[in-house]
Amino acid sequence: MHKGASLPLPPADALSASAALTARIGQAIDDAGGWLGFDRYMALALYAPGLGYYSGGAAKFGRDARDGSDFITAPELSPFFARTLARQFAPLLAQGLTQVLEFGAGTGRLAADLLLALEQEGQLPEHYAIVELSGELRARQQATLAARAPHLAPRVAWLDTLPEHFEGIVVGNEVLDAMPVRLFARSHGRWLERGVARLDNDANADADDANAADAAFVFSDRPLAADALPEALHAVAGDHDIVTETHAEAEGFTRAVGTMLKRGVVFLIDYGFPAAEYYHPQRVGGTLMCHYRHHAHPDPFLYPGLQDITAHVNFSGIAHAAADAGLTVAGFASQARFLMNAGITELLMALDPNDARSFLPAANAVQNCCRRLRWASCSRSSR
Ligand SMILES: C[S@@+](CC[C@H](N)C(=O)[O-])C[C@H]1O[C@@H](n2cnc3c(N)ncnc32)[C@H](O)[C@@H]1O
Repeated sequence: MHKGASLPLPPADALSASAALTARIGQAIDDAGGWLGFDRYMALALYAPGLGYYSGGAAKFGRDARDGSDFITAPELSPFFARTLARQFAPLLAQGLTQVLEFGAGTGRLAADLLLALEQEGQLPEHYAIVELSGELRARQQATLAARAPHLAPRVAWLDTLPEHFEGIVVGNEVLDAMPVRLFARSHGRWLERGVARLDNDANADADDANAADAAFVFSDRPLAADALPEALHAVAGDHDIVTETHAEAEGFTRAVGTMLKRGVVFLIDYGFPAAEYYHPQRVGGTLMCHYRHHAHPDPFLYPGLQDITAHVNFSGIAHAAADAGLTVAGFASQARFLMNAGITELLMALDPNDARSFLPAANAVQNCCRRLRWASCSRSSR
């Protein structure tokens, strides 16, 4: 039985796209001498042009496996998420921060619902820019805006690179957790970097596609010189065995955003913890997680390109990176607390509670949004 046997089998065209990505990653491993850092593997699995999970044709976002999707995010769960965020944005727009820049806009749902809510508040931004790595998602975002907010779509532009300077509001929902991480394992008191090697599967040469797809790669640990240990891991107390992640890419991204932002506020919304919780001695298995057809599981080698791979965010690292770029942390709270303080309940109560058919699903979706983990925001005033 192959590892993914308890999960729905992908259709044949998806399996052949996954096989093509598997070959591409295999080539990258060979080119690198037989071993690839996990961050490189994750970057290829998620973003290899045309084949990666985010850059290829996977459905990705949706309510359940029947629509071929793998997970759902807060903007997809409920328009009240965007409406609540709009209540935070409106006073900032009124103060003259007239632009919004969204990173990783998914289906475009947050952009459309934010613009509609800001229009209602009488605080439409002059421009709404989106930076999106995936051409496939960019097309989906355009279609969502055309369908949900056609009169506002002309305000939206897609940027291929970060602007040199930006004044305004920056937002990224569940973007940091989609950035590649490095993996490290401490075994018998010694740190190793956990990377990826080919699994020699000659013995499986006659195996079916599904079997070949999930048997191509294995974790492979390499010794790490003491002075090569990332700073964040110095905080891991004790000498017990542990596997964990570091987030150089997300921190570099935060630094780049901070350097770009001349005046404004950044809202980064994601799963994660501060470092003390992230590297707590009891969190021995790390946070790497994969999502395939609404099943969460820990195997990043299953169906490369057909499943999401994610790791929680170390928000202390993000705060330090933001501070390096001159930002100050304006707030850090659970998503539930943030949404409540920003008035999600008041917005919900504007619906008629006696109209069970519309009120109950809306209230359930809001409750689900509030169950999601963390919220961080960083701000800066003009320099
Ligand atoms: C988990 S999805 C979240 C999508 C959307 N924000 C939502 O909440 O539904 C992650 C998104 O981040 C994007 N992404 C990852 N790294 C990025 C980067 N460096 N710049 C812009 N987008 C990025 C992916 O392409 C994808 O659209």
